Amino acid sequence: IYGASELVVGPAAGTTDGSHPGADGSPADPDAVLERIEDGAVAIADGDVVAVGPTDEIVAEYPPENAAVAIDASGKTALPGFVDSHTHAVFAGDRSDEFAAKLRGKPYQEILAEGGGILRTVRATRDATDKELLELLLDRLDTMLSFGATTVEVKSGYGLDTETERRLLEVVGQAAERHPVRVIPTFMGAHAVPEGESTADYVDRVIEDQLPSVAAHAVFCDIFCEEDVFSVEDSRRVLTAGREHGLEPKIHAEEFAHLGGSRLAAELNAVSADHLLQATESDAAAIADAGVVPTLLPGTAFALGTEYAQPRQFLAAGSEVAVATDFNPNCYAPGMEFALTLACVGMGLSPAEAVRAGTYGGGLALGASRTEIERVPAGCGTLREGAPGDLLVLDAPSHAHVPYRFDESVVERALIGGEPAYR
Ligand code: NIG
Ligand code: FE
Repeated sequence: IYGASELVVGPAAGTTDGSHPGADGSPADPDAVLERIEDGAVAIADGDVVAVGPTDEIVAEYPPENAAVAIDASGKTALPGFVDSHTHAVFAGDRSDEFAAKLRGKPYQEILAEGGGILRTVRATRDATDKELLELLLDRLDTMLSFGATTVEVKSGYGLDTETERRLLEVVGQAAERHPVRVIPTFMGAHAVPEGESTADYVDRVIEDQLPSVAAHAVFCDIFCEEDVFSVEDSRRVLTAGREHGLEPKIHAEEFAHLGGSRLAAELNAVSADHLLQATESDAAAIADAGVVPTLLPGTAFALGTEYAQPRQFLAAGSEVAVATDFNPNCYAPGMEFALTLACVGMGLSPAEAVRAGTYGGGLALGASRTEIERVPAGCGTLREGAPGDLLVLDAPSHAHVPYRFDESVVERALIGGEPAYR
């Protein structure tokens, strides 16, 4: 790829040590948080980035006429593919009527307590065949890729029994084989307590029955640590057991109530703590010190009409922030582009900060910098030498057009591992 009017390489040098521009509370200087090359080029060989720099230097070493795929990106932007580090994209059923009920003022948790919400999706998902679930997931991955996601984490959690949880993760595994997107599976048997079961018994089932049966099919273990769902102690037990089975912890924390899930994430050195709407400054300090990536999901706040999480408190504490879609039946928003628009308009990130959070931040939230997590390649979310050749060409002159232009996609094409994956 050569001649890009703007080539986004990754976070700017000297800004990944925890002292971010913009951490003081002001929206960061767009030029300061991303390393960008004007008239830039990137060369990819055997799936990975081998050189990145000004077009004249790169084409001298890697002439486009010798390349299997050569893309003239004049007037366009090239940037790392988006890393959607938090989705619940494997589910069946329809909850559009709950959207209407929520608009009439019915709270999300009340719907769940009455057997709706997650539990309703569980009934529909249990009734669906593997083939149906796979087709639904593959279609959704097509949509997500069309909005720029080249890596997508997918959680189970609409099975809530051993057989269906395993089935869901097997379907995610089949999708990973068939679809060009890098699909990263997370086990989330502890997503809700199934109807008619006690929380204590269900937590035992997750640990004793589900984990041993599903662990081979997942990379991470996640839990909904929330009032009237799973306590901090339940979460500690499940996530600790998950790690014993080789699954690194993630956690849904401080979404509706402030329970202490982010402290637990710090204690366990979880890969990420997600949602965090009710997190305090001291929570932010604890997760920053532990290297837990705060993952913010503005689509969910948008869908529920609540306040947004506060990214500045995490940046000020020295964290790298990730932004993801949380695509699920309560937040029917598969596109990273709109998530990044909301990260700007709703949460006050600058366009460059949002793009950084949707690329580099997302990669870190999936363990790209942790050697024990092999499924997510080092450098994922950047276009530095050695990173995977996962990139987007935008039909737009700069990265700022991603959040600026909402309700249309600026993604013109995507490569994954150097191979054309979209258009
Ligand atoms: O992250 N909060 C728990 N899980 C999802 C919602 C799942 C659903 O409502 O189906 C979330 O928002
Ligand atoms: Fe979620």
